[in-house]
Amino acid sequence: MGFVYFVSVLLLSVISAVNSCPPSDRAALLAFKSALNEPYLGIFNSWTGNDCCNKWYGVSCDSATRRVADLNLRGESEDPIFEKAHRSGYMTGTISPAICKLDRLTNIIIADWKGISGQIPACITHLPYLRILDLIGNKISGPIPVHIGKLKHLTVLNFADNLISGNIPPSIVNIPGLMHLDLRNNRISGEIPYNFGKLRMLSRALLSRNMISGTIPSSISNIYRLSDLDLSVNQISGPIPDSIGKMPVLSTLNLDGNRISGEIPASLMGSSGLSILNLSRNSIEGYIPDVFGPRSYFTALDLSYNRLRGPIPKSILSASYIGHLDVSHNHLCGRIPAGSPFNHLEASQFAYNDCLCGIPLRAC
Ligand SMILES: *[C@@H]1O[C@H](CO)[C@@H](O)[C@H](O)[C@H]1NC(C)=O
Repeated sequence: MGFVYFVSVLLLSVISAVNSCPPSDRAALLAFKSALNEPYLGIFNSWTGNDCCNKWYGVSCDSATRRVADLNLRGESEDPIFEKAHRSGYMTGTISPAICKLDRLTNIIIADWKGISGQIPACITHLPYLRILDLIGNKISGPIPVHIGKLKHLTVLNFADNLISGNIPPSIVNIPGLMHLDLRNNRISGEIPYNFGKLRMLSRALLSRNMISGTIPSSISNIYRLSDLDLSVNQISGPIPDSIGKMPVLSTLNLDGNRISGEIPASLMGSSGLSILNLSRNSIEGYIPDVFGPRSYFTALDLSYNRLRGPIPKSILSASYIGHLDVSHNHLCGRIPAGSPFNHLEASQFAYNDCLCGIPLRAC
């Protein structure tokens, strides 16, 4: 009996040793935790005991290797811990470079804690298995690590809503499987890499509300899968490349609030699959291309605050749908076309032009 008991205890301890996380991963997690302060929810209270793979909040391990594979800490979540506290998360402190010792990580999500500051540890680019890197909604400053392109397995890179500065590292174009790039609302300056079009898997490129300058690289139109391109509220100049209107799945194009000049490429209006086009607040000139047709289906078409001349083209009546239209604050002139897509218009959508007339403005 005593012997059986001894063997069982031995077996159990062997099994739990096999199942628990390696002491080095545990130590790295504890070092990571010690650089942070989470005063309201107590999510780190669960980070005790030897087995970091067992019920440590936000930590999960690979079932075969027992190495830490995911770190998923979201400050806005449906988790009961948030409901109990009746509040969303808040955390201060920094992301410790100790995180780089967790070299089997595939996902790092440290999102919406509002107060985490400091820089992104440069060593994060040494995590060879990383697929998702999501640090949205903190106060992280400093640059994007210059060697970010070493993260060959990255599919999601989200640094939106932080205080990140510096340029977009040219190495970023070497991430072959990048699908979702979100750098919105930071302090990023410099130009979009000229060979950005190497990112063949990209479906969303969201760079709005930064200080990005230079021109729109025409290589962007080589990104076959790109459906959402948002460069709004930056300092981008130069023309809209013609080829953008020929992109097969592009459905949202936001270029508003820049210094874009030149004319509107006809391909953007006629045959493109765009449903949202915002070119507002630029220096776009010339005529609105007279190429609308049955394939034109816009839920929003905002051309306001530019230098457009000439009439509103008659072909706009052949568009299948124009939802929200705004051509105000230009130099347009002539009779506003009357017809079905144009039945629910308000004067403000046409106001502040040189000599537009007809419903909903004054008679011609
Ligand atoms: C287009 O962009 C402008 C300026 O950034 C913004 O004010 C406007 O609401 C946008 N239009 C639409 C239809 O979203």
